[in-house]
Amino acid sequence: MQKLNREIGSSFYSLANGDKELTVLKQQSNIIKAPLAYFYSGRNAIHAILNEIFIAGRRCTIWLPSYYCDTVVNLIENHFNNVAYYPVNPFEFDHSVNIEAFAKPNDVIIINNFWGLSSFNHKSDTKHNIIIVEDHSHGWLSEQCLNSNADYCFSSLRKTYPIPLGAVVWKPKSKKPFNHYNIANDEAVLSAHTNLNTSLTLKRQYIKNNGEKVKNTFLKHLYKGEQDLNNSQDYTKPDLNLEQLLKSFVHIDPNAIKNENLAFITKKINPSKHFKVLNKKGHTPFGLLLVFKNINTFNAFKICMINQNIYPAHLWPNTTINGTWKYLLNIHIDFRYDIEDMSYLVEKINLWTKNNV
Ligand SMILES: Cc1ncc(COP(=O)(O)O)c(C=O)c1O
Repeated sequence: MQKLNREIGSSFYSLANGDKELTVLKQQSNIIKAPLAYFYSGRNAIHAILNEIFIAGRRCTIWLPSYYCDTVVNLIENHFNNVAYYPVNPFEFDHSVNIEAFAKPNDVIIINNFWGLSSFNHKSDTKHNIIIVEDHSHGWLSEQCLNSNADYCFSSLRKTYPIPLGAVVWKPKSKKPFNHYNIANDEAVLSAHTNLNTSLTLKRQYIKNNGEKVKNTFLKHLYKGEQDLNNSQDYTKPDLNLEQLLKSFVHIDPNAIKNENLAFITKKINPSKHFKVLNKKGHTPFGLLLVFKNINTFNAFKICMINQNIYPAHLWPNTTINGTWKYLLNIHIDFRYDIEDMSYLVEKINLWTKNNV
């Protein structure tokens, strides 16, 4: 079944056997060499990790990058004390985080793989009992993710696959699976699951059957599902159906098609004085990453794209950074899109550049 409504970026729709998108996605696989534990969301996953670390009454500082996903920051600030921030430049990737510059013995450091492009050279510091937690939500199955040396890793899988919810936790240095779940009834996450599932199914109808009538309904379920997820304050085991779904996707490497699409774009995209494309040789970025200097130009570009059914995401709206380049947009260029879609995307970006010298 082919796509009828062209749309680039934005939320996933469900896929079924026989869909071209699924065949494209499945062309490559890769494996994390440690047992995986599944969660409903990335936030649930980091919550569980920090709870396990703090269960024995550990006293220390939790260090977060100064530039990080707002929903994760809010969750950690709400549930844990002694949160501090270390400086990072999310748009430069040559240096690994210099842990010695700020961490004290026993501290917990959360390190984000920025857009799949970060360098990871830090060693695990058992001498000072420092715990390193890496977030690979934007670099799932990247080299850094596959070869991690951290104490804990997690990734929000729902950013990569067409699934309603899902995240994984693993301990790269351990053969034992992570197994720290709360036994509770997390109504919020169950409601998020139902709403996001409905949204995926209805969006499939919209994309593939020209289902204009369901557009508002799938969007309503999407927003409600995300709102529910913000209300989830727990870390329960996902239900068996979701766990099976996650297991069926988790080894599929999403990066081959992203590389192909990006190679096409970088050949065709014209330079602009307003934005630069973030990339790094030998790495696969999460999507097409455009970083802007000026908020007004950034907003104008975003509105122009949305008017043409291209939906960039601002990563992240509540974060600020000093320096020339400040505002990042990600446009998905994953298995849903073929060269025709990419041509459409570049044509629209180049037209904006031509009109905004
Ligand atoms: C880098 C990063 N890590 C973790 C998360 C949390 O994942 P989830 O939305 O599945 O809770 C997000 C976004 O929400 C994110 O951008």
